Amino acid sequence: MNLILLGAPGAGKGTQAKRLAEKYKIAHISTGDMLRDAVARGSDLGKKAKEYMDRGELVPDDIVIGIVKERLKEEDCRNGFILDGFPRTLKQAEALDKILLELGKEIDAVINIFVPEDEVVKRIAYRRSCRRCGAVYNLIYDPPKGDVCDKCGGDLYQRDDDKEEVVRERYRVYRNRTEPLIEYYRKRGKIIDVNGTRSIEDVFNEIVRSLPKKLNF
Ligand code: AP5
Ligand code: MG
Repeated sequence: MNLILLGAPGAGKGTQAKRLAEKYKIAHISTGDMLRDAVARGSDLGKKAKEYMDRGELVPDDIVIGIVKERLKEEDCRNGFILDGFPRTLKQAEALDKILLELGKEIDAVINIFVPEDEVVKRIAYRRSCRRCGAVYNLIYDPPKGDVCDKCGGDLYQRDDDKEEVVRERYRVYRNRTEPLIEYYRKRGKIIDVNGTRSIEDVFNEIVRSLPKKLNF
């Protein structure tokens, strides 16, 4: 099963992608996580990406397309994958079509999670991520048991791009550059609309219920 998750910053893409990847045993591909990894390692790619990420802007298409192209060829994608945060521009969506054609794969469904701006700003303000394993928590909606990660004991931190003014910019960029992709995939009959304002569990159950029956193995 090959899926795309679309949605504004803070809509819950990462939270749901992780659960879906576990349930269906498919690869979770988050371009945001991959770029943050590159930043943490201090690679040339990371240094370049950081400038854009800190301002809430998109990293140039060519860089991100190159990363995803290589990632999709990896062994763990054979059973399927879930793209979280990619594609984000029309150019990325067209490049993805070409890559998948070359690999003989196809997108089965595009899950569009809707959450209004004020709610995402609130959610992101209380988000904490694990520096070691990447687990994501929310101090209000999905709190860790203590001060460290429940899963691995790693440090919990707030992302550099999670300051309110940067979040508002990311939201603006989402509306201008990424929202048009909803129409792109709707025309192809792939979109599944999901109301993302309910609890993490309810949103997850709705996604699972809405996936085409033939995919629900
Ligand atoms: P990326 O890491 O993808 O960030 P984003 O799209 O802004 O999305 P977030 O990760 O902030 O939110 P999310 O939807 O994953 O929500 P989460 O599950 O964490 O990208 C970061 C940057 O990298 C970009 O700005 C750009 O610079 C660059 N980049 C990445 N991909 C790129 C690309 N393709 N092209 C160019 N540049 C790219 O949930 C948020 C919080 O809410 C958490 O605390 C969670 O616990 C909580 N929560 C989740 N669901 C619920 C719920 N139902 N109820 C209550 N709380 C909830
Ligand atoms: Mg995310």
